[in-house]
Amino acid sequence: MSAVDYASLIPNNVDLASDRTLRRALEAWHPRFLDWWRGMGPDGFQDAEVFLRTAVSVDRAGWAKFGFVKMPEYRWGILLAPAETDRRIGFGAHKGEPVWQEVPGEYRALLRRLMVIQGDTEPASVEQQRHLGKTAPSLYDLRNLFQVNVEEGRHLWAMVYLLQRYFGRDGREEAEMLLQRRSGNADTPRILGAFNERTPDWLSFFMFTSFTDRDGKMQLEALAQSGFDPLSRTCRFMLTEEAHHMFVGKSGVERVLRATCAAMNGHAIRDPHDVAAVRALGVIDLPTIQKKINFHYSVTLDLFGSEISTNAANAFNAGIKGRFHEDRIDDDHQLHGATYRVLQSVDGRFDWVDAPALSAINARLRDDYINDCQPVMRAWNRVVADAGIDFELTLPHRAFHRMVGDFSGLAVTPVGEIIDPAQWQHSANDWLPAAADLEYIASLMRPHHAVGAFAPWIAPPSSGVGGKPGDFEYVRLAS
Ligand SMILES: [Fe+2]
Ligand SMILES: [Fe+2]
Repeated sequence: MSAVDYASLIPNNVDLASDRTLRRALEAWHPRFLDWWRGMGPDGFQDAEVFLRTAVSVDRAGWAKFGFVKMPEYRWGILLAPAETDRRIGFGAHKGEPVWQEVPGEYRALLRRLMVIQGDTEPASVEQQRHLGKTAPSLYDLRNLFQVNVEEGRHLWAMVYLLQRYFGRDGREEAEMLLQRRSGNADTPRILGAFNERTPDWLSFFMFTSFTDRDGKMQLEALAQSGFDPLSRTCRFMLTEEAHHMFVGKSGVERVLRATCAAMNGHAIRDPHDVAAVRALGVIDLPTIQKKINFHYSVTLDLFGSEISTNAANAFNAGIKGRFHEDRIDDDHQLHGATYRVLQSVDGRFDWVDAPALSAINARLRDDYINDCQPVMRAWNRVVADAGIDFELTLPHRAFHRMVGDFSGLAVTPVGEIIDPAQWQHSANDWLPAAADLEYIASLMRPHHAVGAFAPWIAPPSSGVGGKPGDFEYVRLAS
């Protein structure tokens, strides 16, 4: 079962060869996917040879191989983690029953909706990042961008497989719609807000892969617990790829910080708030990096939905979407009568309130996400501290700049004070990237496509990928 068929048009370990109807549906979708990729994927690099990893197995050891490939020829495949024998539903009303191999009729609409929402984020991020190649700070970074892009393409394939295999005609229509919506388009936007934001520069890309791909990780972890086994197995394998996306983001910001701190120390600039002096060195000042954190983190927190949610309770109860590491939590996994502590605003102040745990599933996943961000912040602050610079990067308060959920109507500062909306607007440019900040960053975005070259605003990586050095010719640009 875990053997991957690489001989056929669509590499897979789901025995596509013996399911004629499904194979035809996917083969019909394939050219439309390629049209989308050529039109909305990386702009201008379709003929370049890129040193990419391709998943060739689902075994933990040696699941990927590296080699040069033109992106449109990438082997997007359908890969599920190996089935577990006698797997049981781990939570909700059906806890203890054998997992489902087909979609239970009563949960059909719910499941389809969850897959469409997950599936929609995958092409959306490729669209958001499509112009970045032109300003890549190095071939190493260019390659990492494209790696993330092709794998998001594969994640789209993963969801489209599930839709087409298990949802018949509706599934085929949804698969089509996934290629029709466009990030940021006023008429046919992507489903979720963060996936309609622009990714205008490379610092945004690194923040997006640090924070928004991490939301992806949390959602996939919750779906990996699903009682619908094909979804669980699909998400488990996607998580192996997702780890690299977050690495690209975290290490990318680290390298930006390293370049900034080195330049400041090299010119004896002691005051990190002296933005003009730091920018004169051609690096990104720390306050602007903090503003980017504030933006991407707050926009990503919205992706978890309303703190108190009946939909989330239903999905949990149905055994469709669990909690983060559900199988490691020590409770009854049904949450009858259980409570969970949720932050709420009461009379202009924040207070922790006990809510029914079942309704607070989204709040809990968001808490787990916030915890998952802590080591990232520590790593970034270590770079600054090691350079002897007195500045601490922080995550803003969870109620800051929120558009979804309980805090959406509130004007909250990054440290968590509820203030007058007019006052908030007045200070917004101190907290979120202002036009002048974005203009400055944009002025740094120049391509460094020569072998071994790195833009001055980012330090080279400490090591390369796929056993190659950092200055390897990761992308052979078409002449
Ligand atoms: Fe993804
Ligand atoms: Fe990702």
